[in-house]
Amino acid sequence: SVPTIAVFVGSLRKDSCNRKLARALEKLAGDKARFQYVQIGDLPLYDQDFDASYPAQSTRLKDQVRAADAVLFVTPEYNRSVPGVLKNAIDIGSRPYGDSAFAGKPAAVIGASIGQIGTAVAQQHLRNSLAFLDMHVLGQPEAFIHFKDGLIDADGTIHNEGTQTFLQGYVDRFLALIAVHAKGD
Ligand code: FNR
Repeated sequence: SVPTIAVFVGSLRKDSCNRKLARALEKLAGDKARFQYVQIGDLPLYDQDFDASYPAQSTRLKDQVRAADAVLFVTPEYNRSVPGVLKNAIDIGSRPYGDSAFAGKPAAVIGASIGQIGTAVAQQHLRNSLAFLDMHVLGQPEAFIHFKDGLIDADGTIHNEGTQTFLQGYVDRFLALIAVHAKGD
């Protein structure tokens, strides 16, 4: 059956280039995967007191991740790290201790920035968290997308052939990783 991918976009703004990148990956995956975008903008700030009674939006996120076969993180870089809104969502999904929604899931990391080396440092920080969360993270290809105006439309159409070929390879490798972990299900 077609795998479901829970997609975290680490930017809330309407014109986010990372959201465009996520849509492009969805388009490239075609009928080989179902992308489910995880809402992170309405989550409360993580508070360990949630352990006693998890807020509804937080449980919604955990249920969505649990139901997915894999998780894709599409992240901007804020001040050489992961945006707080994304880190908050990850913290929420990982708790209470021993009840993480992320453990054992295949995952992939990608990001777009208007800066030349944009998102490399953020992605590295994110990989640390995902390793700690016991996710099976795609190692290669790494993908640091240098976003220029008109590279990708809001509907995910890519206007550069090299980028299109590269991203198709990225999606194919991720789908292969998901298939490996689906065996025995
Ligand atoms: C940025 N930006 C940025 N870019 C980068 O390559 N490295 C960085 O460390 C930062 N730091 C940073 C901090 C803050 C608070 C903002 C708002 C922005 C620029 C960033 O790459 C650019 O705004 C992207 O367009 C953000 O991604 P979305 O929202 O388009 O997906």
